[in-house]
Amino acid sequence: MLLGQLNAAASPLSQEQVQKLQGLVAELNPIQQAWVSGYLAANANTAALGGVVGATPSAGEGAALTILYGSQTGNSKGVATKLKEQAESRGLAVKLVSMADYKPTALKKEKFLTVVVSTYGEGEPPEDAEALHEFLATKKAPKLDGVKIAVIGLGDSSYEFFCQTAKDFEQRLNKLGAETVYQRADLDVDYDEEAVTWISGALDAFEPDLKAQQGATGGQVLSFGAPVTAASQYTKQNPFAAELSTVQKITGRDSSKDVRHVEISLEGSDITYTPGDSLGVYFLNDEVLVDEVLTLTQIDAASQVKIADEQLSVRDALIEKLELTQSYPGFVEKYAIATGTPELLKLVEDKAAMREYIEPRQIFDVIRQNPAKLEAQTLVDCLRKLQARLYSIASSQAEVEDEVHLTIGLVEFEAFGSEHLGGCSGYLARRAEEGCKVKVFSEHNDNFRLPANDETPVIMVGPGTGIAPFRAFLQERDAREATGKNWLFFGNPHFTQDFLYQVEIQGYLKSGLLSKVDVAFSRDQAEKVYVQDKLRENSKAVFEWLEAGAHFYICGDANRMAKDVHQTLVDIIKENSGKNDIDAEQYLKDLRSANRYQKDVY
Ligand SMILES: Cc1cc2nc3c(=O)[nH]c(=O)nc-3n(C[C@H](O)[C@H](O)[C@H](O)COP(=O)(O)OP(=O)(O)OC[C@H]3O[C@@H](n4cnc5c(N)ncnc54)[C@H](O)[C@@H]3O)c2cc1C
Ligand SMILES: Cc1cc2nc3c(=O)[nH]c(=O)nc-3n(C[C@H](O)[C@H](O)[C@H](O)COP(=O)(O)O)c2cc1C
Repeated sequence: MLLGQLNAAASPLSQEQVQKLQGLVAELNPIQQAWVSGYLAANANTAALGGVVGATPSAGEGAALTILYGSQTGNSKGVATKLKEQAESRGLAVKLVSMADYKPTALKKEKFLTVVVSTYGEGEPPEDAEALHEFLATKKAPKLDGVKIAVIGLGDSSYEFFCQTAKDFEQRLNKLGAETVYQRADLDVDYDEEAVTWISGALDAFEPDLKAQQGATGGQVLSFGAPVTAASQYTKQNPFAAELSTVQKITGRDSSKDVRHVEISLEGSDITYTPGDSLGVYFLNDEVLVDEVLTLTQIDAASQVKIADEQLSVRDALIEKLELTQSYPGFVEKYAIATGTPELLKLVEDKAAMREYIEPRQIFDVIRQNPAKLEAQTLVDCLRKLQARLYSIASSQAEVEDEVHLTIGLVEFEAFGSEHLGGCSGYLARRAEEGCKVKVFSEHNDNFRLPANDETPVIMVGPGTGIAPFRAFLQERDAREATGKNWLFFGNPHFTQDFLYQVEIQGYLKSGLLSKVDVAFSRDQAEKVYVQDKLRENSKAVFEWLEAGAHFYICGDANRMAKDVHQTLVDIIKENSGKNDIDAEQYLKDLRSANRYQKDVY
């Protein structure tokens, strides 16, 4: 229904509310309208979930299938949503709940439970799953005898601890007495088809008991917590071909890093985003590498191959559809079997040796070092589908409207006597020309958001490309004329070469939008200085800001920086409050539960 036709009788709104809504919408452009629609839908969704968790619906409570998901970048949430839709289409009652919104004490009431969860770091849960993951290993966790479960993990086999969190969940639930009724699946990056198969199998396993219990309790079909978002028609599966408007190097000529400021036009799409979201970007592999691979495997570039239902030339498939850079054990195994290469076959038997082997190599290194004649389709079947890379969005639509900005660090390294580039960063920094089309989609991240209250202070720690979402935050707060104080910690090797967005940051400091900026240029003095050292130097003030309600954000390197910053925060809390380690960690857990400690790390 169009808003102009809306009246109080045809809506749940009063006449006064209809008039106010019409007045507001008249002032908004289409992008703003789409944003508001998503904002309201997400709000309504949160309210709905809040009402469901721990509540006691009148019928069928015991017979609902609870779907719990733990997801950082939306993949598990997507699979959980598909599971919900499939369950509903079978007439089953379902509750779909993010682990972040789930009260662990509600576990006692569950009878049928599915867990959809990804893995991060060194086999760690995504942030929204941390509390439940930990709770299940404590003495407080309830007995779950008689509870039927099925677990599905999403991960990436290029990581050592593949789908570890899903394994942990299943093991912990089983230990509490729950019975696995359908075998766990550990799915790799190319998970779509296998997820559909697993969902169907898992529902077959749950359906007879669920239906029997639904009958016994009145059989009412219940459905809760549908994730309502302002869904764009453009998604990971159906990306938008956007114009690449600008790719500008923002590190100096003598810098050891090549960082690019990238601007992409979303004009012609319905894609909207909120500061804290990421942009998924598809890329084309390097044609020079593709031709080399074809020569090494003695394959005619025009040979036709099939990928899913699509038929295309093997050359096009290698450029557009398949991973050639990021290595993982599954490729080495398939290539070893396809080529019968004895050295590679030996690795298949030895997990540790396999890890050591793939660590310094990209996929084409394996082919380059072990060339063998192959059929075109055999090569294609060895490779996994090219995955979009995610980039933290570095702009606010309040400032740039239908553009989206990114801050991309080029992955480049020397190995085996030649230059190696990352697939996507290499494409954007070196091969793509301004004006060309890149396929993109926006990935919402409700776990990295500015405080709703504009008066709340924020502390942002974003060294290197970690600065990206904070540029978006600052643009947004500037546009909103938010009065809350903003404190930025930035770091990189050298002041003269690597101060990303220096002019903007200094401008914000001058205008007063930024209350404080602390920079750590690690190599500008004899002793290395990092953002965590700057936090430590400001220990008292950081603690005062936290006590005054500040939200604390970290973005950038997950392996070292985020861990060091976390430890520094623990030390700061101990030093200023007299708490011990356990209580200081608890202080941070409480901040996290209140959405006041958020990370966007990779
Ligand atoms: C939520 C999220 C937000 C992100 N935001 C940003 C951002 O704002 N800016 C940004 O730049 N990146 C960001 N990233 C990282 C980004 O998604 C890509 O992972 C990164 O750009 C590398 O992708 P690529 O295709 O260029 O490299 P790939 O082709 O994926 O190659 C990278 C791989 O190469 C290997 N490698 C790298 N260096 C070496 C070496 N020296 N020796 C041997 N092997 C090596 C590693 O296995 C590495 O995984 C983000 C990631 C996530 C998940
Ligand atoms: C920084 C980072 C670390 C990751 N670590 C692991 C890991 O240790 N094990 C694993 O199986 N997958 C790992 N992954 C892959 C994710 O689990 C995978 O992309 C998954 O589909 C994400 O699902 P989500 O969007 O629901 O969080 C990692 C991904 C990122 C970006």
